[in-house]
Amino acid sequence: KARSGEEETTSFLAVSPSLYGRIVTAMKAAGLAEKNDRIVLEKPVGRDLESFREIDDAVADAFDERQVFRIDHYLGKETVQNLIALRFGNAIFEPLWNNLTIDHVQITVGETVGVGDRWPYYDEYGALRDMVQNHMLQLLCLVAMEPPSDLDPDSVRNEKVKVLRSLRPVMAEDAERVTVRGQYTAGEVEGRPVESYEAERGQPSDTETFVAIRADIDNWRWAGVPFFMRTGKRLAEKRTEIVIQFKPVPHSIFGHGERGDIYDNRLVIELQPDEDISLSVMNKKPGLEQRMQLQPIRMSLSWGQDGKDAAPPRRRVAYERLLLDALNGDSTLFVRRDEAEQAWKWVDELADAWTCRECKPLDYAAGSWGPEAADLLLSRTGRKWNVR
Ligand code: BG6
Repeated sequence: KARSGEEETTSFLAVSPSLYGRIVTAMKAAGLAEKNDRIVLEKPVGRDLESFREIDDAVADAFDERQVFRIDHYLGKETVQNLIALRFGNAIFEPLWNNLTIDHVQITVGETVGVGDRWPYYDEYGALRDMVQNHMLQLLCLVAMEPPSDLDPDSVRNEKVKVLRSLRPVMAEDAERVTVRGQYTAGEVEGRPVESYEAERGQPSDTETFVAIRADIDNWRWAGVPFFMRTGKRLAEKRTEIVIQFKPVPHSIFGHGERGDIYDNRLVIELQPDEDISLSVMNKKPGLEQRMQLQPIRMSLSWGQDGKDAAPPRRRVAYERLLLDALNGDSTLFVRRDEAEQAWKWVDELADAWTCRECKPLDYAAGSWGPEAADLLLSRTGRKWNVR
């Protein structure tokens, strides 16, 4: 497109990352890497920090960092942006957004699809590199980052990098305690029988199709607040959610049992299948009982519910937002080089810990919520997944 008389091109590469280097070199030779041109790169860019740097060096030979747009389509999802609006457009949440009030955070990205014929790619990457290095760590960053001073691309990305730098590395001796690897066996998903991963792959494989991790962020705001992440293929539901679990009331004046237990407040940010943000609070059961009884209620915070504002957002494909931003040169929702490097560094350390401990994936039946060890990861600390 032409802006202020000058030609601009925006190119989008969604091919095998091994070709990125050669393509950008050819683009440079063809005059498609001039100062107003941009390049959008689909993930994965590399398989580890080293291969990421190799590819990115080739890209940097042709384009300046400001011209490079590394896509993570989760950042284009409407509810993910709504999380930013919720946190920084309201004064009531931020004072609570810390280890004084929040007990833990859960991030679940569950899929019902299997790997199917994507296995030539997937078998080399597994759930850790396919989902955690990018989508899940991005969600974690948006929950955990400090308020940026504005929405400038670098202001937001500086805050995300700080979170990634504060992530505690997973050491070999902690691998079994804080992570779970799984691989689906045959089972039933959405009422129909499905094959195991190895049957799809056609031979035995040690690639994980499920991962659950307890991540700790070593900074003042989040010290002592575990972030539990889990993602997998062939799970019970297609469901993506972030759960902010608040601490219990310090003392219950209502007693327990018949009068109704107090459920700790919970903010659920649902990305899929529905887009919604809801807060669960305790409420009095209506009635004339002498002893007050309580019940939990769920309040949707996504859009007005009084009739006139009730307009569920049109479901947009995340790429719509991101490609538009790339065409307009706005890189706020794209991943900067140092951010991707930091995420790879943490993931590489975790993968090394697995190798060192020879952690093989545990079986889970297709259609379940993953290996039992993923439930134990939370129950050992007296917590449980929001959806099981
Ligand atoms: C992609 C992964 O980045 O995200 C896929 O490579 C995964 O394996 C997909 O299925 C999930 O995206 P969404 O938007 O359907 O949650």
